[in-house]
Formats: sequence, structure tokens, C-alpha cells
Amino acid sequence: MIGRLNHVAIAVRDLESATRVYRDTLGAKVSAPVPLPEHGVTTVFITLPNTKIELIAPLGANSPIEKYLERNPDGGMHHVCFEVADIFAAREQLKVAGARVLGDGEPKIGAHGKPVLFLHPKDISGTLIELEQA
Ligand code: CO
Repeated sequence: MIGRLNHVAIAVRDLESATRVYRDTLGAKVSAPVPLPEHGVTTVFITLPNTKIELIAPLGANSPIEKYLERNPDGGMHHVCFEVADIFAAREQLKVAGARVLGDGEPKIGAHGKPVLFLHPKDISGTLIELEQA
């Protein structure tokens, strides 16, 4: 069901400093920051030859990554995103298999303007998984 690795997301407290590290220390190509109020984060995308890294920093009150950053004050890996051909078919297949979809279960528009869903980390080896319709 899952296809290409679309991105690995790293949660950070200070987006500017994290962007500098990727751009200046690691020599990567970084995007401008994109606020996603519906997701409670601001993102910066780092384009690598084979995939992307998504830096995410809290945006507004009650950001869904606030708790993670309290537990991991230096930041860290937050989720991985796999592409799927049909997000509704994937959701139904996962529900039958017992995986929990987070939130109200309906896809939201993600950072790339495409529908995304998140799966409960307890059902997927302790890793928060984002599915994005390719
Ligand atoms: Co993501």
C-alpha cells in the first residue's frame, strides 16, 4: 500500500536556527517558511536528491507538536510520511487492520496541497506515520 518516502519530519523549537544548520552546516537547499495554521505548525522543506526533510515548529496555541518538544527540548524526529495512491482506500484498509487514524479520521490538506492522514504511533512500531495522497 505505501509507496515512496515523501519526507521525514523533524520537530524544532527554533525554526530559523534549524534552517541555518541545514542550509549552512549541511549545505542543503531549504525553502522559505510556510505557515500551516490548520496543522498548528510552520514548516520549512529541505530538498534532498531522493526525498525531503520537513522542519516543523509550533504555530499558535495548542500546537500538536508542543508536547513532543516538551519531552524533546532539543527537537527530534517527529514523523515519517509515505505516499499512497488513494488515501481513502488506504484508510479503509488500515481501519480493517486495526490501525487508528488520528483526529476525526478525515484527510486534511497538508503542506503540499494534498490530502494527508496521520496514524497512531502505538499501532505502527512507535512511529507517527503521515500518509499523503501522491
Ligand atoms: Co509531514
